[in-house]
Amino acid sequence: MPVRSLFPTQVYTAALQPRGARALNRELLKEARQIREHDAAGRRWSARRYPGGYTSYGSLCHLQKMSSTFATLERRLRRHVNAYVRALDLDLTGRALVMTDCWVNVMERQVVHGLHLHPLAAVSGTYYVQTPRGCSGLKLEDPRLDRFMAAPPRRADCRPENRHWVTIPARAGHLVLFESWLRHEVPPNAPAGERVSVSFNYNWF
Ligand code: NI
Repeated sequence: MPVRSLFPTQVYTAALQPRGARALNRELLKEARQIREHDAAGRRWSARRYPGGYTSYGSLCHLQKMSSTFATLERRLRRHVNAYVRALDLDLTGRALVMTDCWVNVMERQVVHGLHLHPLAAVSGTYYVQTPRGCSGLKLEDPRLDRFMAAPPRRADCRPENRHWVTIPARAGHLVLFESWLRHEVPPNAPAGERVSVSFNYNWF
């Protein structure tokens, strides 16, 4: 078919490391619980903006600088971020992408994180620490959605690249990277167990 794909939205998904990350995830989970326990300001922030769950986004959002475990995660993310930069053909003109924010999220049953994007960042992503069976994935929205107007809907069985919403499953030990302008959400989390993730932003300096 003489059809080419232009202006693609590129999303990076991979395992953090080839041999699994159980030891790192155990440490991250332990620290996530300690952080939640000690972070009264974050619990108050979450009660208003993240009902039923806990996120350190509003209180402790530089965890890569506060904890050697999160610093280890940052180091192990590096090669993935570099690969994504190459795939996007980003010209950083002598500058580098640097992790500016890193925070932890704990979602209990039925916790939702509504549609949003990540301002003041170039590349964002999430690393999954604990993902109970059947927990919510990361739902990405077609950035051109507001321009379709009279466009017909897509067939229910259409190819992923033609869908307007694509959900990336959350899988412990795996990460997702996307450009920070891409809107996304976490739909209501179904299972009873805690879905624990670490999210982060990179900007270029
Ligand atoms: Ni987000």
